[in-house]
Amino acid sequence: MADHFYTKIKWRCPSNIAIVKYWGKKDHQVPCNPSVSMTLSEAFTEVEMEISPKKDKDVKGVELEYFYEGIKNVPFQLRVQTYLESNLESFPFIKNHSIHINSSNNFPHSTGIASSASAFGAIALSLVDAQNEFSYLSEKKSFYKKASEMARLGSGSACRSMYGGFAIWGHHPNVKESSDQFAIELTDIHDNFKQMQDAILIVDDQQKKVSSSTGHSLMNNHPYAQSRFLQAQKNAEEIIKVLSNGDYDTLIQVAEAEALTLHAMMMTSHPYYLLMKPGTIDAIQKIVHFREETHTPVCFTLDAGPNVHVLYPSAFKTVVTEFINNDLKPFLKEVIFDKTGKGPEKLY
Ligand code: DP6
Repeated sequence: MADHFYTKIKWRCPSNIAIVKYWGKKDHQVPCNPSVSMTLSEAFTEVEMEISPKKDKDVKGVELEYFYEGIKNVPFQLRVQTYLESNLESFPFIKNHSIHINSSNNFPHSTGIASSASAFGAIALSLVDAQNEFSYLSEKKSFYKKASEMARLGSGSACRSMYGGFAIWGHHPNVKESSDQFAIELTDIHDNFKQMQDAILIVDDQQKKVSSSTGHSLMNNHPYAQSRFLQAQKNAEEIIKVLSNGDYDTLIQVAEAEALTLHAMMMTSHPYYLLMKPGTIDAIQKIVHFREETHTPVCFTLDAGPNVHVLYPSAFKTVVTEFINNDLKPFLKEVIFDKTGKGPEKLY
């Protein structure tokens, strides 16, 4: 086995939208409750990683250059640098190689859509792949479980992007093989939910004022934390049941309650904060009204920001697209039509 090698690897990793939310974590990116998400198709990051021997072998530490669409991205480079430094044991090749990353997203940069899930997903996939090329990992874990574990250490939600369809991350006593360390794929999915649409309503495209990391940390001394974690555990179990039995009504009820609870946690933390905008509330009310009028199984969810995700089965695509274009789009910055995705892809 050579000490040094040269390789160029490229992975595409999609983003995901949580139905049961991860909000609150312990040390080492261990979540306080299980979360369940749907992997997306169109919102993805591509990472090209070029790995070559360090020019100067005596240089200690990580040698990394991080470019976003050809332009050096210093803040993200520092975040990835810290990530690599704390994971040298998993990727020993980093000690004597330099790494050049060029990443790009296929969703507009200015939409305020969080990209750390897809970015860390693609970075972890490339690193695990490179380490495999260099010397096979001795662990018994499958490639995607290992990549999920490493993605989690970069950004929690990233670990759920390793599989197509739906995934659960976080140990649940009633879900076999579920783990706090990595996500696993949910395979028992009813036909009703195999092809879901997710229209992302861009209400506001500004960078949010409070980061997810700060939000997670505010759960540490949150007055409602324990009941929230218990509720999420119950909701995760309920959603898994619903995904398998095809019950639209319960999916809608749990998904919307989760979205509002996430924001309720922000509004009741110390200090409190508000990420929803008037346009968020307006869109939510129109979606609920449309559902009541037409009996279409459509619902909303939110991530840690003002934008609204509209979830609906593909069978109702025509009627919901018409509703979005006529009743919502005129009040929005942009709408991104996405859907259930197949998971990551190695490009070379
Ligand atoms: C509201 O995964 O962005 O989207 O682990 O600190 O990187 P870090 O947090 P992050 O948190 C995502 C929170 C969420 C809910 C979810 O995706 O489950």
